[in-house]
Amino acid sequence: RTDQIRQGRLSGERSGDLEHFLASMDADRWIAEVDLLVDMAHLLGLSRQGIIEEAPARALMAALLDLHDHGLPKEAFDERFEDIHAGKEAYLIDRVGEDVGGRLHMGRSRNDEVATCVRMRLKEEIIALVRSLVDLRQTLLSVAAAHTKTVMPGFTHLQHAQPTTLAHYLLAYEQAFSRDTARLREAYARVDVSPLGSAAFASTGFPLDRNYTAALLGFSRPAQNSMDAVAARDFVIEVLAAAAACMTTVSRLCEELVLWSTAFVGFVQLDDAYCSSSSIMPQKKNPDVAEIMRAKAGSVAGELAAAVTIVKGLPMSYNRDLQEATPHLWRGVEAVRQSIPLLSGMIGSAAFNTGRMAAEAGRGFSTATELADVLVRDYGLPFRTAHRIVGRAVRHGSLDLATLEGAAREAAGLSVVGLGVTQERIDAALDPRHAVAVRSIVGGPAPAAVAVQLSEQNELL
Ligand code: ARG
Repeated sequence: RTDQIRQGRLSGERSGDLEHFLASMDADRWIAEVDLLVDMAHLLGLSRQGIIEEAPARALMAALLDLHDHGLPKEAFDERFEDIHAGKEAYLIDRVGEDVGGRLHMGRSRNDEVATCVRMRLKEEIIALVRSLVDLRQTLLSVAAAHTKTVMPGFTHLQHAQPTTLAHYLLAYEQAFSRDTARLREAYARVDVSPLGSAAFASTGFPLDRNYTAALLGFSRPAQNSMDAVAARDFVIEVLAAAAACMTTVSRLCEELVLWSTAFVGFVQLDDAYCSSSSIMPQKKNPDVAEIMRAKAGSVAGELAAAVTIVKGLPMSYNRDLQEATPHLWRGVEAVRQSIPLLSGMIGSAAFNTGRMAAEAGRGFSTATELADVLVRDYGLPFRTAHRIVGRAVRHGSLDLATLEGAAREAAGLSVVGLGVTQERIDAALDPRHAVAVRSIVGGPAPAAVAVQLSEQNELL
């Protein structure tokens, strides 16, 4: 079997290295199956428009259905054909003869063929990603629902900042994943256009019905401009950007799981399934799945950078460089596809140490903000004055009444005792549960506010 495409214009043998260099066969495994569907749609279109006669059309369809049912043979992936489109055509011609097999590529180019295949396959991937993100968000919501009263420290700069709850924290990630899902769904709409019928770029003189083939393949419409249809890869960039953004969320959560599972923090015990041990240290339980996931976020960002850089210098319309962008797309979406269900399992099976969280919730004067707020709310001080007084008391190492009184005289020239502040009032303000309970406005960590967030997100899912 020879490479039919070279036989007219070109001559000579090529080395295996050269063929390997040019070939996209590895990445084409992603699109081989949809390529047969694209063939069938094109064939039905040719037949419906009377461009191909019934007998060869029937023979071609039988061969295509057979290939679809039994899978493309290994020979079709031979690198001498450079890509699956040419390999498949050569195989078809070999099977049914050129008088039949040689009629399929009328009014078509590999340029519109590959763009159609990539978009079709990518639509499936986006749907799968959105599904897995919905599952992950469901997991976050159900774990959150069980922890609306689990008080824990919240951090800024990784320093104890103010108390919050585990539910509030998990819902923060759920919000981020909700936007990641929306970005993928929005990208889907722009992937969902059919390049088929654009041929090399100038469309074709055959009277193809592009609306018909687009509909057969499940696209919402044909691409409007045939040159754009074969040249555009911004849909690749857009999906990779959404994938990279999503993996950034994944990575931040993984980073926290790694941190939380240290002996220093001890907020979580990951299930053994998501951990590895050491070849030398018998005691080790390492959070390797979270670490690999954190690293994959870097890889996906790299795939995005690669795709942008490959496409940015290309003039209209098709350039072979585009072949080199596609594998980055598949690697990027595959990393997300693998990560999301594992992350969902890791969160769903994690044992959260609520005792450790409660013990840390009030550490590092994390309720100092609430004490300053009480001085404002109940005793009428300007916030900046209260902030300075409480800050000065922390500098002196305590928030008891005596220290606060000294700090008030020193930093503001006033007496909090004179204002009526009591030790009981201070103690109430410094209780982490109280600090959480009063933060009950929209978006806050108080159980009632979190309940609203939970029900809104459940509704959305
Ligand atoms: N394998 C190529 C790709 O992925 C197919 C497109 C057409 N090839 C060509 N030489 N015009 O982009």
